[in-house]
Amino acid sequence: MNEAFTTRIVTAPQPGGPQALSVEEITLDPPARGEILIRVVAAGVNRPDVIERMGFYPPPPGAPKGLGLEVSGAVLALGEGVNGFDIGQQVCALVAGGGYADIARAPAGSVLPVPESVDFVAAAGLPETVFTVWTNVFEAGALKPGERFLVHGGSSGIGTTAIQMAKAHGAVVIATAGTPDKCEACRRLGADHVFNYREDDWVEGVKVSGGADVILDMVGGDYVAKNLAVLNRFGRLVQIAFLKGSRVEVDLMGLMLKRQTLTGSTLRARSHEEKAALAQAVRAHVWPWVEAGKVRPLIDSTFALAEVAKAHERMDSMAHAGKILLVP
Ligand SMILES: NC(=O)c1ccc[n+]([C@@H]2O[C@H](COP(=O)([O-])OP(=O)(O)OC[C@H]3O[C@@H](n4cnc5c(N)ncnc54)[C@H](OP(=O)(O)O)[C@@H]3O)[C@@H](O)[C@H]2O)c1
Repeated sequence: MNEAFTTRIVTAPQPGGPQALSVEEITLDPPARGEILIRVVAAGVNRPDVIERMGFYPPPPGAPKGLGLEVSGAVLALGEGVNGFDIGQQVCALVAGGGYADIARAPAGSVLPVPESVDFVAAAGLPETVFTVWTNVFEAGALKPGERFLVHGGSSGIGTTAIQMAKAHGAVVIATAGTPDKCEACRRLGADHVFNYREDDWVEGVKVSGGADVILDMVGGDYVAKNLAVLNRFGRLVQIAFLKGSRVEVDLMGLMLKRQTLTGSTLRARSHEEKAALAQAVRAHVWPWVEAGKVRPLIDSTFALAEVAKAHERMDSMAHAGKILLVP
């Protein structure tokens, strides 16, 4: 079938603030071999989208046009060689771009069935954070049950997912956040120790509580030295962003003496094959936690696609806790 589809997408032709976002209509080619077209029910808004809007995060080569890294929706069309999906099936997917849309294009390997326990719209808030947390905390960080896990930005999309996944795995969870309400949100999700980084000395607090074996950090800057200071012997520090800067001066003597590991990764630029392997790991290890209600997307707010600038204003305001969604 060579049916062509039209869809709205969102671009930022001139990088800038939320008003730089533009909704345009394009014609989509039919799905290529190995691809699935998804009739979008909701799309997740992520911090990387904001960075892309500002012109600092160019999409990888071959990515679909437009912003948006995750969707939930119904299977609309299957490319050649795609097996295991039915037209109309409820799915959620990690996409390399073009998720803010009526129709999104995803490699079949990055598409997963919506867990029965999760609302169809809310499922759009799962892929980006679950994939990121799994690969960084569980693969790179090798978090084990009983270990102590520290996540900064505990009320962020990533943080709310990381707290729940680490708890489901049996870790002791420590989180930092910037307001009393956000700290309370972390506690409600199961964090055992929570520090308001604007008021508390979180370095001292984490040390007194027993340190951390694995740290997931998006802050960088002066947090790199502080993280290494609270990281236990054989501890792993995993960087997924550097909101306070990636150029730092740090004394690495402790890293050697405590035999610590410093690592990090990005998700978007990975190959289809790497993402497919990750999707299988997520399906095997995280989907059962989701089905059991131990991990669920925490939804902050939902905006219509035509109001995408308002959704980005909300994210820019840093007032949100959990995920912001767009609905076409
Ligand atoms: N490497 C990867 O593959 C990958 C994938 C996805 C996301 N990410 C990154 O992960 C981060 C979170 O993404 P998201 O979509 O979950 O974004 P988000 O919900 O907007 O979260 C950003 C968080 O950063 C915290 N933060 C900002 N400045 C801070 C500072 N100076 N000190 C301490 N905390 C600070 C905020 O905490 P408060 O509001 O409490 O201040 C907020 O919770 C982003 O930086 C994103 O780029 C990386």
